[in-house]
Amino acid sequence: MLKKRIEEALNEQINKEMYSAYLYLSMSAHSTHIGLKGFANWFMVQYKEEVTHAMKLYEYIQDQDGQVKLTNIEQPPTEFASPLDMFEKTLKHEEFVTKSINDLVDLAIKENDHATQIFLQWFVTEQIEEEANDKEIISKLKLVGEKGSGLFMIDRELAARKE
Ligand code: FEO
Repeated sequence: MLKKRIEEALNEQINKEMYSAYLYLSMSAHSTHIGLKGFANWFMVQYKEEVTHAMKLYEYIQDQDGQVKLTNIEQPPTEFASPLDMFEKTLKHEEFVTKSINDLVDLAIKENDHATQIFLQWFVTEQIEEEANDKEIISKLKLVGEKGSGLFMIDRELAARKE
């Protein structure tokens, strides 16, 4: 049985994960629009991952006899200045999600909720990987520049990302 405060915070996290999904789907659409199919693939895979993050929370709440409450998903941006801009916004957003997960862990500790603490460990680890991936791509984009053959090389690399 979940405490009310924990249930509310987990439901808020579902919304944040669904917003993440929506944000990356928007970036995928924009990438297709500007002719970068590899970028579009990378963000599409990321979109699907975020939906699975939301579903992990959804199932956990239900397994603990809590109530899932879905709320409005904010509109994501639809225009981006450049591929680098998309990844810088991605990293910034993931740092926000990391803070939110850490706050959730703090709350679970405060409420003596051991099950939720253990459940959240997967997300703590996942956030390390997500931020590291984003930083690596940002470094590459800065290194090769955002035009010409360098950009298409990165596009080809991002096309290889699988679900
Ligand atoms: Fe679900 Fe990208 O954190």
